[in-house]
Amino acid sequence: MRGFNIGLFGFGTVGQGVYDILKDLNYSKLGTIQKICVKDPVKSRKISKENFVYNKEEILLDEKIDVIIETIDDPEEAFKIVKTALDHKKHVITANKKMLAYHLKELTNIAKTQGVAFLYEASSCGSIPIIRLLDNFYTIDELLYVGGIFNGTTNYILHKIDEENLIFQTALKQAQEKGFAESDPTNDIEGLDSLYKLIIITYHAYGIMLDVKKVPLLGISTLNDIDIKFAKKHHLKIRLVAYSGIKNNQYVAFVLPIFVNKNSPLYHTEYEYNAVVLESRYSSQQFLKGKGAGSYPTASSIIADLQSIANNYKYRNHKESTVNIGTIDFDKDIKFVVYLRKNVLSDNILINWEKRYVLDNQEFGIANVNLKELKKITEEIRKSNGFIALWNDPWNRKNTHLENHIEQVKEVNQIEI
Ligand SMILES: NC(=O)c1ccc[n+]([C@@H]2O[C@H](COP(=O)([O-])OP(=O)(O)OC[C@H]3O[C@@H](n4cnc5c(N)ncnc54)[C@H](OP(=O)(O)O)[C@@H]3O)[C@@H](O)[C@H]2O)c1
Repeated sequence: MRGFNIGLFGFGTVGQGVYDILKDLNYSKLGTIQKICVKDPVKSRKISKENFVYNKEEILLDEKIDVIIETIDDPEEAFKIVKTALDHKKHVITANKKMLAYHLKELTNIAKTQGVAFLYEASSCGSIPIIRLLDNFYTIDELLYVGGIFNGTTNYILHKIDEENLIFQTALKQAQEKGFAESDPTNDIEGLDSLYKLIIITYHAYGIMLDVKKVPLLGISTLNDIDIKFAKKHHLKIRLVAYSGIKNNQYVAFVLPIFVNKNSPLYHTEYEYNAVVLESRYSSQQFLKGKGAGSYPTASSIIADLQSIANNYKYRNHKESTVNIGTIDFDKDIKFVVYLRKNVLSDNILINWEKRYVLDNQEFGIANVNLKELKKITEEIRKSNGFIALWNDPWNRKNTHLENHIEQVKEVNQIEI
């Protein structure tokens, strides 16, 4: 095995993790970082100034550099860097999920044409090797679904709300103080970060490139006291999940909050942990739990990708489906049972309530929603500060435990919350 000449883009949380691990391993056989490109020339750094460049071309046009590790926080600029690197026949490793959610297919095609590796394990669920797993397994044995908790920030917030009875804003502030949530947490709490990862994972699970705008999506930013008390009343926890799979013989994908009971592996996924649940026809259910973010967990996936490039590994993308971008619609008649809360005055949507309660101008309870209405309903609900969470557990195809809860709810006329 020869050592790579590495060009590193970004020296923030992830970039420094990559630098530290390579130094710690003292494993120059794998590769040596030749240059690091960052943005701010006056920022103080923990290593000497000679290591840094500020013009991307100093790395991209350097013929000696054969591997690019891209860890910057600007998706548009990251796309330009990655595309140019692939065009120059350099192997590329990236952690940038937003950039991949929009450009994965195009960049994959360039990498194929150029005969170089393009790997991005760190982009989805940090240290959990889910992309590699999907790329190598579940071919003849059909994958029924893959999904789970893909965002550590929201999981930390939900865990703290549940454990310490914190309100949403306090839990968010704690997540920011701990460095899990960024100063602008929109991508996390609105579910976009989970959606980007779902798009990457779905591409490797089913060969389908989902359209960011079409997937039903609701985060946890509108979660309020009524929703939290409703969950507690039924001994359930709220989690934000992403799901991609086959339901009633139809392909379905969404990012939504869900109520889980103590039989679900997601119930026990706490703090900033991520979890992936998947099931194939013959393997039965499988569960992976691990750190989905942070300097070293994320960098460990990047180092694993580097090792794979040394072993001539490239994603096989063999599940490349005949379904083209845009042909996956969500117009099917698939019924979802949901917990829903909305303002009584917002009547832009007609709700098919199974059980409805009213408190302080808020109506809430259990309702039936069809997949084809789900996108519109989630958008209306977000606008009016309402909330939706799946009541049925999509991982449990028998759904017995939550159906029991519905029976209990039906029997209760007055709910004390
Ligand atoms: N943090 C995590 O746990 C985690 C986990 C998985 C994936 N990711 C992904 O990894 C990427 C990096 O995240 P991070 O948390 O490490 O970000 P970060 O701590 O904010 O660091 C970003 C780095 O990118 C550099 N940068 C920004 N624009 C640049 C440009 N145009 N040219 C060169 N360098 C530029 C910054 O330079 P300066 O130092 O000069 O400001 C900084 O060093 C993001 O795509 C993120 O989504 C992060």
